[in-house]
Amino acid sequence: MQNGKLSIDPAFVVAPVNRRVFGSFVEHMGRCVYGGIFEPGHPTADDAGLRGDVLELVRELGVTAVRYPGGNFVSGYKWEDGVGPVDDRPTRLDPAWRTIETNAFGLNEFMEWATKADVEPIMAMNLGTRGLQEAIDLLEYANHPQGTALSDARIEHGAKEPHGIRMWCLGNEMDGPWQLGHKTAEEYGRLAAETARAMRQFDPDLELVACGSSGRHMPTFGAWEATVLEHTYDVVDLVSAHAYYQLDGDDVGSFLASSVNMDLFIREVVATADHVGAKLSSSKKINISFDEWNVWYLREMQESGLPEDWTVAPRISEDAYTALDAVVVGSLLITLLRHSDRVTAACQAQLVNTISSIRTEPNGPAWRQSIFHPFALTARHAQGQVLDLRVDVPMLATAKHGDVPVLDSVATWDAGEGRLAVFVVNRDPAEPVAFTTDLRGFGEVRLTEAVLLGGDDLFAANTVEEPDRVVPRPHTSSTVDGTTLRAELPAASWSMFLLEVSR
Ligand code: AHR
Repeated sequence: MQNGKLSIDPAFVVAPVNRRVFGSFVEHMGRCVYGGIFEPGHPTADDAGLRGDVLELVRELGVTAVRYPGGNFVSGYKWEDGVGPVDDRPTRLDPAWRTIETNAFGLNEFMEWATKADVEPIMAMNLGTRGLQEAIDLLEYANHPQGTALSDARIEHGAKEPHGIRMWCLGNEMDGPWQLGHKTAEEYGRLAAETARAMRQFDPDLELVACGSSGRHMPTFGAWEATVLEHTYDVVDLVSAHAYYQLDGDDVGSFLASSVNMDLFIREVVATADHVGAKLSSSKKINISFDEWNVWYLREMQESGLPEDWTVAPRISEDAYTALDAVVVGSLLITLLRHSDRVTAACQAQLVNTISSIRTEPNGPAWRQSIFHPFALTARHAQGQVLDLRVDVPMLATAKHGDVPVLDSVATWDAGEGRLAVFVVNRDPAEPVAFTTDLRGFGEVRLTEAVLLGGDDLFAANTVEEPDRVVPRPHTSSTVDGTTLRAELPAASWSMFLLEVSR
């Protein structure tokens, strides 16, 4: 069996765990909103039509922030359509997803949901078909306390208190030719800069996100970030990154190493942002909002196409995730956490039904997909500081990513509570790894919990009939002997070890 060794020391700190890294995404796409978080008449729905069973699962998932309302949807959206008396709201066509949008759910409903779900809102605005005026109108409507036409309209619409939304995305994937109002980097950079500047005149403390690339594969990647940031450096705080991964044929090895691509993407965006900062002689650092990431069987969606007929909330990309997908999601979270010094926000896309952790049936149950579990466990147990690990592991050959370290790992240390969490993925599709972790910097430690996902039955998935087929199971091979943690990591598995320092 191959050996993999880690050394973890509490003195080597990367950065605090940013709670915003455990964000998610609610888009008006498929059944994420309608029939997902919102289903008036559902047996668990409250007076506002918000599904109680979904709210409970969202809280259990440990989501901290939610980006809304899109996505591609936002680039054709008129936010005004979604506020005011529901009967007066217009029904529109949404060309992004070939869907009829009733506008029964909008900003104020979302904010009520966000309060009940106990998540921070991250609001995306339309810089595709719209621009500066609509952006500042939305800001005034949402955040100004009272006494102006727009803030008073919000009060009249039932939202007495200002929403106080801090984080705003200046458009969505404006580099993508599929995006309504797609722009060149020059055009978008100018628009984003003028919008950001105007928004800051209303409130200098907002946190603003410029659109980065919608994938590392984009032909404009790198040049896009450089041009956009040259325009916006002084007026934005973050630049976005989006990435989706999927299993190609039977190339499980490359799929398990997807986070190598994410890791590279992050390092390249950081390098590009710092290069622009250097050119501008700025001491400010632009961080990354990785505000769309997940496993997504996108090619299948592209092959089957969007629904021919225009309907309300059709089923789109209701991927049934496998145990293998859960291992990859665990690995992507490890990578995001490892970059906590520069990735300060992230949103798994999406939350319910569409590319989601949670699934529902109309008038029926809600259940946890396999990918729910690594997210929930990481969000709950990654606390305190992210530690910089020393890693001594064999390399593994992959078709897509070349030679990659066989283990992907991160550890977090909560000094106040004396709790250490270690997350590790064995990327080898066929061989287990004998895993040893040197913890002598902590003194004597005690293993309090060890769980495992994947390893066998990799293509099993949770369904409405069998919602708990893929769940974490105890890691029976793990032991701690004084200051050394040992375990056998099965091929293609995600593991979490929780330890307490003896005081
Ligand atoms: O999350 C699904 C879609 O993926 C989003 O609408 C878009 O931003 C991205 O291309």
